[in-house]
Amino acid sequence: MADAGRHPNIELITNANIENISGYVGNFNVTVTKKARFVDENECTACGDCVDVCPEVYPDEFELGLSSRKAIYQPFPQAVPSSFVINMDQCLGTTPIACGKCADACEKKCIDYDMQDEVIQLEVGTVIVATGMEVYDPTEIDEYGYRRYENVVTSLEFERLINSGGPTQGHLVRPTDYEMPETVAFIQCVGSRSVKRGNPYCSNICCMNTVKDSLMIKDHWPEVDVKVFYMDIRAFGKGFEDLYRQSKNRGTKYIRGIPGEIREDPETKNLILTVEDTLTGELQEHEVDMVVLAVGAVPRHDSAVVKKLLTLSTTSDGFFMEAHPKLLPVDAATKGVFFAGCAESPKDIKESVTQASAAASRANVLMAQGQISSEAITSVVAEEICSSCGLCVDVCPYHAIEVDKANKIPAQINEASCAGCGTCAAECPIQAIGMRHFEDQQIFAQIDAMLENDPEDKIVVFACNWCSYAGADTAGTSRLQYPANARLIRTMCSGRVDQRFILHAFAKGASMVLLSGCHFADCHYISANRWTQRRVERLWDKMEKKGIRPERLQLEWVSAAEGQKFATVMRAVEDLRTQVTAAEIQATQEALANA
Ligand code: FES
Repeated sequence: MADAGRHPNIELITNANIENISGYVGNFNVTVTKKARFVDENECTACGDCVDVCPEVYPDEFELGLSSRKAIYQPFPQAVPSSFVINMDQCLGTTPIACGKCADACEKKCIDYDMQDEVIQLEVGTVIVATGMEVYDPTEIDEYGYRRYENVVTSLEFERLINSGGPTQGHLVRPTDYEMPETVAFIQCVGSRSVKRGNPYCSNICCMNTVKDSLMIKDHWPEVDVKVFYMDIRAFGKGFEDLYRQSKNRGTKYIRGIPGEIREDPETKNLILTVEDTLTGELQEHEVDMVVLAVGAVPRHDSAVVKKLLTLSTTSDGFFMEAHPKLLPVDAATKGVFFAGCAESPKDIKESVTQASAAASRANVLMAQGQISSEAITSVVAEEICSSCGLCVDVCPYHAIEVDKANKIPAQINEASCAGCGTCAAECPIQAIGMRHFEDQQIFAQIDAMLENDPEDKIVVFACNWCSYAGADTAGTSRLQYPANARLIRTMCSGRVDQRFILHAFAKGASMVLLSGCHFADCHYISANRWTQRRVERLWDKMEKKGIRPERLQLEWVSAAEGQKFATVMRAVEDLRTQVTAAEIQATQEALANA
């Protein structure tokens, strides 16, 4: 942070909010509100004279409320800039009761109660999202008594407790009596790997954080007994297994089992943990002085704001989604936007630094080129047909289309912003938008070719490039059996699949059609598959009205890793296909011919 603050090419804007981001790669316009600090950050030397005289005391957010700070304070010891800031909601100021003690105490006259927020306009070529994460709040796990029992703390609170710059200057004490604990228990996976409470994913960092804490305890206070309750220890990074072994060799006891309950002895304030050791099957009770809950990582509470500002996608767990997990792991689907650190998923420091370096390089390469090549697959408007209805504008997840309805000016595609999902083309009621490389004629030709012979035996499958097509691939490479009469048509996104393609397949005699895309929140084009769902629902209604059984069109979400699911879905669709009679197919063809 200090290096970044000193770097001639980096301008740090701290204590600021991003209000708006418009534009596109190479031409982003960012509106920033830099909040007033009420202290001149260029003059303040952080001498602390103002803090000494400030009469207002509040819990210190950085120390998670474990210590206090004044209304004028330095946010944290290594803050950059190292200047102080006044929280005006807490400061007495000069009215209504005259205080102004900090202003009197400041020799350099840095304090300005009238300082105003400043609005800054920036023009930037690329954006790196490095908004970090938060930790899981274990209050909902009532049986652990967090907030009810003072000696139950989270791993982040424990981190501050043993930090030399923390509230106890690094002395290990338990909160109720400020005595050094004789026994400390760590409970792993709190809020992680649980579908009922917390989150189903592994938070990646908690195991090694506990191993590190156990080693720190053994280094500084070897007499303290450390017990770790775990499901399994995930020590997969470089040198991590070695640290885990060291922790065990230094006397930390690892007990395989997650406590079901914590009780407090009202007299001693000791905590009693009930646990089944799953290695021995034995039900045990452990009395300890202090419990540390190794809490998992969760997305920031305000990540929805960033998501909206930059039209980003998130995965089902709420972290930002990369454009491709293997090929574009630091790129967002929105061009010119990159991710670094835990905004994208929980990760440790090494991984975060690696990703940050990669994101900076990706951004640098893009900007050093000075110009970009737009995607080969983008939408294209037939202006002579376009009626300027604006439907395409509503469905575009990237805000890449503009229409002047009032002046009847046809839709204009910003090719730098268009990511090529094809939703606009599928939604356009008069086929005024096409998709390069996935034109209507190409898709119709594929349908015609695959249904040329024995169409009633075929299942036409529309699969999106990123998830379902890859899921089919996974099924194939895993040698999973699925019906050989499936005929796949790949589109970049399920959003590209026009109702006309499906009806054309039925008109050509197909028994069944399957439309398959990414799970919600996994769509690589932000929310394009939501439009797929709506379009299919409309089509089911339409089919019913025409006397075509809606079951003949199936909609399934299959991820790239779900080869097994793809095969299962295909077998189910094949079962349905066998129930479709020749008479039904003929009736469908007649109904569609008469439409
Ligand atoms: Fe798979 Fe959109 S990319 S549904």
